Amino acid sequence: IIGKASKKPLRGKKVLVTAGPTQEPIDPVRYITNHSSGKMGYAIAIEAKNRGADVTLISGPTNLERPNGIKVIDVITARDMYDQAVSHFGEADIIIKAAAVADYRPKEVADNKIKKSDSNLSMEFARNPDILLELGKMKKNQVLIGFAAETRDLLDNAKGKMNRKNLDFIVANNIAEKDAGFKSDTNIVSIIDSLGNVEKYDKMKKEEIADIILDKAYDLIKLKE
Ligand code: CTP
Ligand code: CA
Repeated sequence: IIGKASKKPLRGKKVLVTAGPTQEPIDPVRYITNHSSGKMGYAIAIEAKNRGADVTLISGPTNLERPNGIKVIDVITARDMYDQAVSHFGEADIIIKAAAVADYRPKEVADNKIKKSDSNLSMEFARNPDILLELGKMKKNQVLIGFAAETRDLLDNAKGKMNRKNLDFIVANNIAEKDAGFKSDTNIVSIIDSLGNVEKYDKMKKEEIADIILDKAYDLIKLKE
């Protein structure tokens, strides 16, 4: 049996997933990060492996168990993630960018622990590369999928990101809702594709969302073959 009915529909396909937060150092003992748990990206990586894919997972620092049968590449900063994502992009058929990448990093990393003083402290930040935007420019006949974390104007913002980054579809995540977002086991998502179709889903477990994403990715990869 071929295709959807097959138990291993992604056999022979390479899937690249990024997951988790990045950490941007301030000094030897401090860093800036976000609330990403990595659960969404890990769920996608595990499901892709269960469907027979050869999976590479580029992971920021998380507390999650290391999945079996998946090549995990650990990274700390957005720039590390960028380097790894760019170097593994060419070989991948499906690329899913679930990571919550820090948009900025402290411009200078202090060599020594910063000492407190009696005054306020300000810090300058430098822009990190937009990994997904760069991957979108490199895209050949691959399927490229992004996420959008929004607290308002969900669909408009997500649509803009999908177009700008040359994605096949984007998973828009309303992180302002209860039972959704970074730490939760569930999410409330809408999926917008490059034709402008919008599908709104009810609250689902991250594993169920992973199923939907991989079903859609499979359909698109078949169209491009
Ligand atoms: N992304 C990325 N590199 C970055 C920032 C974001 O690859 N430096 C990716 C994320 O992995 C996600 C998508 O871009 O798949 C959207 O991330 P998001 O933070 O929602 O959007 P931004 O484009 O960073 O815009 P903003 O944070 O201003 O809303
Ligand atoms: Ca961002």
